[in-house]
Amino acid sequence: MSKAKYTVTAALPYANGPLHLGHVAGVYLPSDIFVRFLRMNHHDVAFICGSDEHGAAITLRAKKEGTTPQEIVDKYNAIIGKAFQDFDISFDIFHRTSAEIHHETAQEFFKVLDEKGHFTKETSQQYFDEEFEQFLADRYITGTCPNCGNENAYGDQCENCGSALSPTDLKNPKSTLSGKTPIMKETSHWYLPMERHEDWLKDWIQQGTLDGVQQHDPKKWRNQVVGQCMSWIDNGLRPRAMTRDLDWGVKVPVTGGDGKVLYVWLDAPIGYISATKQWAADNNKNWEDYWTGDRKLIHFIGKDNIVFHAIIFPILLKAHEGLVLPDNVPAYEFLNLEGDKFSTSRNWAVWLHEYIEAYPEKIDELKYVLTAIAPETKDSEFTWKEYQTRVNSELADILGNFVNRALVLTNKYYDGAVPEQGNLTEEDQKILDEVAAIPQRISKLVYDYKLREAQAEAMNLARLGNKYLADTEPWKLVKSEENADRVQTIMNIALQITANLSIVLKPFLPATASKLSEFLNFDENDWTQAGSPNLLPTGHSTNKPSILFQKIEDEMVEKEVEKLNAANASEAAANFPPQKEETSFDDFTKLDIRLGKILEAEKVKKADKLLKLLVDTGIDKRTIVSGIAQHYSPKEVVGKTVTVLMNLAPRKIRGVESQGMILMAEDAEGNLSFVSPEKDFAQGGEVR
Ligand code: 2FM
Ligand code: ZN
Repeated sequence: MSKAKYTVTAALPYANGPLHLGHVAGVYLPSDIFVRFLRMNHHDVAFICGSDEHGAAITLRAKKEGTTPQEIVDKYNAIIGKAFQDFDISFDIFHRTSAEIHHETAQEFFKVLDEKGHFTKETSQQYFDEEFEQFLADRYITGTCPNCGNENAYGDQCENCGSALSPTDLKNPKSTLSGKTPIMKETSHWYLPMERHEDWLKDWIQQGTLDGVQQHDPKKWRNQVVGQCMSWIDNGLRPRAMTRDLDWGVKVPVTGGDGKVLYVWLDAPIGYISATKQWAADNNKNWEDYWTGDRKLIHFIGKDNIVFHAIIFPILLKAHEGLVLPDNVPAYEFLNLEGDKFSTSRNWAVWLHEYIEAYPEKIDELKYVLTAIAPETKDSEFTWKEYQTRVNSELADILGNFVNRALVLTNKYYDGAVPEQGNLTEEDQKILDEVAAIPQRISKLVYDYKLREAQAEAMNLARLGNKYLADTEPWKLVKSEENADRVQTIMNIALQITANLSIVLKPFLPATASKLSEFLNFDENDWTQAGSPNLLPTGHSTNKPSILFQKIEDEMVEKEVEKLNAANASEAAANFPPQKEETSFDDFTKLDIRLGKILEAEKVKKADKLLKLLVDTGIDKRTIVSGIAQHYSPKEVVGKTVTVLMNLAPRKIRGVESQGMILMAEDAEGNLSFVSPEKDFAQGGEVR
């Protein structure tokens, strides 16, 4: 039977922030382990990822950082891409949905579905923010989740319970732009009538069949994936809008689509296809080979992405016709950190790029711990203390100790040459039987997406070796010449175990496995050899080992925990800049600050951030250019009484002379607010 062929995807991370350990443990590391294992087993595989650069996640971040969406995606695509590279995640391609090939692919996909009649166009009332003159979909609206009561659920999904939502599902909806309760306003959109697909989806998800033909093994799908999908379907699927009234994203490519873009959850998964196209073009391959025929398509995702990958994208793929549907959607639960949820705004996180920068030589240590605690079936938790314990008492004391003993003794007794295996005792045979069984057990576990247990099995091989040496004590036997043959056998077996370890550890701890293979002069890349008692022939030369794992000192744990606590204890302080240098009263009184009233406001041409204001200062009416255009519309600032720095030297900004400055307050999230008098004061009042 020919080997199954795979296309493996890892959820495209939003390019709106760096990656933390929760993302790594629940998507990128497991997918990488799975793919490395497949490659070692000679499967034809493509491993696809990239950054998700559209949607409100991006535009809202841009607003927060006071910059453009393009700058945001460029910045975070670079940070995320580098972190993946440094962490040695072995994607075949890390692409971007801002790429032209993606826009073309997504538009083409939309047109095909539109032509085949898979969309309906509907006019309806949608939430609208009057102040910002914008429709509010997805992350532009928050409210209380109807399922779990989380008060900060988004219009498209609740990050607390993972359920997918529509804006109208939310209780107490609020605009994330103005914070106000939105009004309803009419707009038209293309909808995917998902209810048309209920019947086949049920069979496909529960039985793995499509039109009566077996497509996948439903027993291999995780319970929470089937459970979440079925509860969605049982509640009745509804039409879901596939377009949005926004200007950032893939433009709707059909008549009537002006000013609208594709829904990010339509465009993002198509990103897997466009990334494959780019990779195929770069490598002289046909992208279709990776999306048609008997390919197994596997989506590694977090639980908040389940319905998008197991219901919506399959509907789109099937409707498009000719493309494969996912064979499995291994979804991970959430990883917590030191007793609390990861939180970007509170900086309660361990950022991957920061870890790599601080501990570049401890990549495999982190991989090991994250796999050992991976939230495969339920939420789990990362603590620095557990990190220390696992590294010290598992990696260093068991794996490191065994490998070191095996190689140091070989060097000492035989000048590094593998001794003869000779006659085996019953005990030896038992050990070798186990050496043969472990890789098989690991294989089964990996094919079943049980990577946590699979890694534990690989470590059992190191445990076995460690125990074997501790039981047989060759360092004692060697003292008497009559034991020479026995010591040779023991050391041969220890070395065969080490060679087997280099293979079975490779998917999980690639750098460590490479080190082992260097110590042994052995190629560790072929899984099909694993289990053999004769990987290293007699006389084969090995090298002196170096220490595989340094113990984690208490100081490191304390430092990291303190870092987290500092962020938590003084959330505000951590988010605001420190106090500036002391200044004199005389210097302060040189500043002429007064209240001014904004009379007129308009956008400055070709400058996204600037408003040109006409301000009545009580003594004159002057023009002031202010960098607030991404926080206020011209309409909403007119009539406001604000604080003006009067005697700032006039400056030309984008060709307009600005005579002074409007003082603004900024909160920890980067939102700006005018500084206005608490009483109803008229313009001209001095501020001292
Ligand atoms: O939840 C997320 O981070 C999304 N950016 C995942 C997208 S996965 C795929 F559909 F592209
Ligand atoms: Zn919820």
